Amino acid sequence: MPTPEVIVCPDAGRLAERAAGLIADAAAEAVRARGVFTLALAGGATPAATYAALAARRPELDWQAARVFTGDERMVPHADPRSNVGMACRSLFDLHPVPLGRVFPVRTDLPPPAAAADYAATLATVFGVPPDGPPPAFDLILLGLGEDGHTASLFPASAALAERRAWVTWSPPGGLPPPVPRVTFTLGTINAARRVMFLVSGEAKAEIVRTVRTSDADVWTVPAVGVRPSTGTLTWVLDAPAARLLPTSPGE
Ligand code: 6PG
Repeated sequence: MPTPEVIVCPDAGRLAERAAGLIADAAAEAVRARGVFTLALAGGATPAATYAALAARRPELDWQAARVFTGDERMVPHADPRSNVGMACRSLFDLHPVPLGRVFPVRTDLPPPAAAADYAATLATVFGVPPDGPPPAFDLILLGLGEDGHTASLFPASAALAERRAWVTWSPPGGLPPPVPRVTFTLGTINAARRVMFLVSGEAKAEIVRTVRTSDADVWTVPAVGVRPSTGTLTWVLDAPAARLLPTSPGE
């Protein structure tokens, strides 16, 4: 993996704008090269501002050429305020319920194991690859970072983190809110992407950002260190508070 790119923006607003620009660029490049842009969205609260900034750039983005997934999902109805795809659609597509046909939500009406298998099958169908082969290569996977070092819904010392064959797996309610089961991409799927981008904001993440970026922590205790794209690139888009403890905070 090439050396990760680290972009530090002055504040959360500038992070959102910079990330939206990077996403729009990745989309344009993918559509030029392959006629389609495959994107997996991050959940949690941080990306909402980026999705809103991206929505403002709507004319630049040919969403009809996009195929949008979520890298993980809480097993709640899409209309539930805790839903990752629901948050993305409210802030990005400004549509609700989920605009089918270009956004592929996890079937949260199924039991978690079945929902994970169903999502993997959807990936195979949309990407046109055999379901028992290597994971498909997303053009871009967005990720958040939890204070415990989790990313997507790959929590420390979890069976989901240890999953090496499935493209998508599930995890029971973790110690972090919301206390619901989750479906998540596995590290194999994340690391197959052409580009992976962490979006991390706020002082509360400064310690874990330093741990992930500079320590020799192992993936079992700090899952985010397992994000090492096999052939793709890794970009960290941080705001200054989240980057505060990095040895040299490169400017944006
Ligand atoms: C989720 C996310 C999760 C999130 C981190 C950071 O479903 O919660 O996928 O991995 O990205 O927990 O969340 P915040 O952006 O809310 O801090």
